[in-house]
Amino acid sequence: MAKKSKPTFYITTPIYYVNDVPHIGHAYTTIIADTLARFQKLAGKDVFFLTGTDEHGQKIEKAAAEKGLTPKALADSVVGRAQDLWKALDISYDFFIRTTMEFHEKGVQKLFQRLVDKGDIYKGEYKGWYCVSDENFLPDDVPVEADGCKACPDCGKKATVVSEETYFFRLSAYQDRLLKLYEEHPEFVRPQSRLNEVSSFVRGGLKDLSVTRTTVKWGIPVPGDPKHTIYVWFDALNNYVTAAGYGWNPDLFEKFWPADVHLVGKDILRFHAVYWPAFLMASDLPLPRTVYGHGWWLKDDTKMSKSKGNVLDPHVLLKVFGPDPLRYFLLREIPIGQDGNFSHEGFLHRVNSDLANDLGNLVQRTLTMIGNYFGGEISEPGEETAEDARVRTDFDELKRRVFDLYDSCAINKALEEIWAYIGMVNKYLADNAPWIMARDPALRARLGRVLLQAAAAIRGASYLVYPVMPRSVEKIWVFLGEAKKPADVPYETFEFGGFGPGRKVGMPQALFPRVALKDFLGEEAGPAAAAAPAARPETAEEGKNAMDIITYEEFKKMDLRVAQILEAERIPGATKILKLKIDLGTEQRQMIAGVAETYAPEDLVGKKLIVIVNLKPALIRGIESQAMLLAAITADNKAVIPFFDRDIPAGAIVK
Ligand code: MSP
Repeated sequence: MAKKSKPTFYITTPIYYVNDVPHIGHAYTTIIADTLARFQKLAGKDVFFLTGTDEHGQKIEKAAAEKGLTPKALADSVVGRAQDLWKALDISYDFFIRTTMEFHEKGVQKLFQRLVDKGDIYKGEYKGWYCVSDENFLPDDVPVEADGCKACPDCGKKATVVSEETYFFRLSAYQDRLLKLYEEHPEFVRPQSRLNEVSSFVRGGLKDLSVTRTTVKWGIPVPGDPKHTIYVWFDALNNYVTAAGYGWNPDLFEKFWPADVHLVGKDILRFHAVYWPAFLMASDLPLPRTVYGHGWWLKDDTKMSKSKGNVLDPHVLLKVFGPDPLRYFLLREIPIGQDGNFSHEGFLHRVNSDLANDLGNLVQRTLTMIGNYFGGEISEPGEETAEDARVRTDFDELKRRVFDLYDSCAINKALEEIWAYIGMVNKYLADNAPWIMARDPALRARLGRVLLQAAAAIRGASYLVYPVMPRSVEKIWVFLGEAKKPADVPYETFEFGGFGPGRKVGMPQALFPRVALKDFLGEEAGPAAAAAPAARPETAEEGKNAMDIITYEEFKKMDLRVAQILEAERIPGATKILKLKIDLGTEQRQMIAGVAETYAPEDLVGKKLIVIVNLKPALIRGIESQAMLLAAITADNKAVIPFFDRDIPAGAIVK
């Protein structure tokens, strides 16, 4: 019996111009594509993920001349740097096409000739306003400005009049077929709002399109008429078929064409949703299923672009954070169709709160407790209570929903849902307070159950995050003692749990760096970072005014412990706070305390005091404070620490 072949999934990014190296805006498209490709692989599809570079045309010719290079030499150097960036971002493309590759040039000439033979490409004369930067003739309705020139409506640059003998593509003949396509397959253009835009453009009437240039030398020659080169968009768009084997590998082409998703920025949607299907119709080739137009990343409310000089170099962030925080931020912050404003404040906030606090801490706490209480081994768990079962059943539902969300490209929604689950698991741990259970030998089986449930939830949630943050999730799975890599577990077969008693887990290392804005930018942080618990204790007076009644239940949520101060040191430039290292019996932590006006560091080392250990960590002067001490406040606002009058072990509960 013939082996049933896997369903396929073919996804593309635009091919990037080589006049400069990619910036965060380009990285965005590529990260979306990588995430969807990784997800579809988990979903059992045979995936072909294509990216590459668009190397011909006047834009490149000009950029190379300015640098004193040949266009090919410029392309070679930029391609190397682009590929380095994709590597640093863990982009798992299957093929990288360069439009200067021979098979592509031949494929484009073959397609061009095919359309000439059919009469869909014919020779004529063209006169019009041309934008060199965008490689595009301006639409006729662009008005002439006071200086007698027209400006490109997309990039704002001055256009020049070009008059030349040219070959035309009979675009006008495809108007009705295009409108029929949009009507019968509304999923051809996504999001929906962009479909309306495209179809009203086509309804407005299509003129034949000039598809060759005599003024541009750096391009693919027209077969049999080499004084013409092929228009860069006819060359570039056809990369999607040549890379998939058109003209050189019929089996590959048969397997993967048509593409499932072309991801493109909204600025190049028209080329993909109007010209491209018309070229394919003329070539008698099947049409792609979806062209997905995503929004732009803006900086200071303007599209990030080299010409505006407001691009962000992804390498700066990658050096400090590695790939995953940037991947996560770009995908989590906005739905794919919308624009987003990039700010370092926004980026650090997300990384510190979602990654370091919510996910990082969950992993850290859970595995540290399994290490401390059970020697790093999953123990025989107690009965699963209804509350424990919820951690499992919620995951099962989440897994189903997240599948549909990834499948429909709603990555930000998928992440939102996964983080809601992570929040629920953090609350489950806080409610069960395993650190308190650990004191009572009678609760050992129950403690084992809670930690098993939390570890299984980490395994599950991280699996769902894998397409977005592959590197961190692989690390988490190593901590969890998983023999497999997440990429090797099919989505369908993945189940909650997956490990039981006897499984050895490792001690986690920090997954996500926690970085303060001022440390990152090298300047003073805003007021948010200065709001420091423990650093600025309330006065007795303020305390009284702010007094609210709390219930005993609320009080019980506080985990108060005896801590022993192991180290104390001053912080350069700070007069009121000290940095302390404390021992909590089962773990050591660092904290910032507003006691420098009352105690010298040497007064404190060895002393035991009371700290709150389950308060959300705060960043103070770029240092994470992981606990808060209790102190009385004198009339002149000095902190006095209550010490014990007899010896008591570090870690003892205070209630
Ligand atoms: N070479 C053409 C594409 C040909 S595809 C057959 C091209 N190249 S480009 O390098 O200028 O842009 C490539 C992609 O990057 C486009 O989809 C564009 O929208 C995207 N972006 C460029 N700047 C961007 C942002 N600031 N934000 C998001 N995407 C942006 O066009």
